[in-house]
Amino acid sequence: MKRRIMALLLAGAMVLGMTACGGSGGSTGGSTGGSTGSSSDMADKKVGISIYKFDDNFMTLYRTELERYLVEDLGFSASNITIMDGKGDQAEQTNQIQNFIASGVDVMILNLVQSSSAPSVTDMCNEAGIPVVYINREPDPAEEERWASEGIKATYVGADARQSGTYQGEEIVETANKGDINGDGKVSYIMVQGDPENVDAQYRTEFSVKALTDAGIEVEELLLQRGDWDQAKGQQIVQDALTQFGDSVEVVFCNNDAMALGALQAIEAAGRKVNEDIYLVGVDALVQNVVDGRMTGTVFNDHFGQAQAAADAAVKFLKGEAVDPVNMVDYVKVTTENAAEILEKVK
Ligand code: GAL
Repeated sequence: MKRRIMALLLAGAMVLGMTACGGSGGSTGGSTGGSTGSSSDMADKKVGISIYKFDDNFMTLYRTELERYLVEDLGFSASNITIMDGKGDQAEQTNQIQNFIASGVDVMILNLVQSSSAPSVTDMCNEAGIPVVYINREPDPAEEERWASEGIKATYVGADARQSGTYQGEEIVETANKGDINGDGKVSYIMVQGDPENVDAQYRTEFSVKALTDAGIEVEELLLQRGDWDQAKGQQIVQDALTQFGDSVEVVFCNNDAMALGALQAIEAAGRKVNEDIYLVGVDALVQNVVDGRMTGTVFNDHFGQAQAAADAAVKFLKGEAVDPVNMVDYVKVTTENAAEILEKVK
């Protein structure tokens, strides 16, 4: 199990490290136990997949694994899998879903542009008799309860972002000076937020800071700004913040690693040094940067585990088996300390 996580962390780091702008990278993440089994009876099943936008690092890693796992491990035929780019436009994505219905797909795996559209999308699919697996952007809990109470074939596969936020905060608490680099008795931070259409943005923001205050640390928020999960926006926000607040910035929290990558560029351009005069944490898979000491920490967002759980749920629906309405995959905390260990073991 440990070995598997290590392989995952490294593969994720390699792909993200290579594709700063969301190119599609091949991954070789191994299959796991826990799948519903390879099924040749899946070969003629049609799967409709729509990703909120292709130009997203993490969802590119996810999409790559999802397709690989469906074909290589579960026996779907690549020609029966259609993956659409939602292009960040819900109207466009809704059209894609209508086309999936018209073309008679057997199951859909949807990463909604707007999670608030889940009730209407669910109804559309349900009326057409097509089960839906939602991924990455969690619908409202009331909607999830409705699936269970009305026996609707819909489910959500994701990760509890409260956990990732808490890990980010703990990574700062675990530094030698607990984030208080200038010793003024409080941790002054900037928060670069993801697109709030994903509740991950809200939870990571809230719980990262909560981990500090829970540890009795006083905090000061210098700036909180939306970077929409985007590297270029992350860079701009941090560049401006460093100009405005200078040395008083002790911690940069980014809701994801793409923005942390942008933040790192701004930090290095400003002549600051991560882990010496500033801390930087993200979430997703930039383990290599942690190993290199260019980030204080990250939290591995297990796109392998999530992609496989989503595909397994789709298979269960196709086989007429019951699926829980909510399925969460754990995050993994990655600090300078254990990232180095991981590198050693796989060398
Ligand atoms: C988050 C992930 C982000 C971004 C977002 C898209 O879970 O950490 O990098 O991909 O999902 O909704």
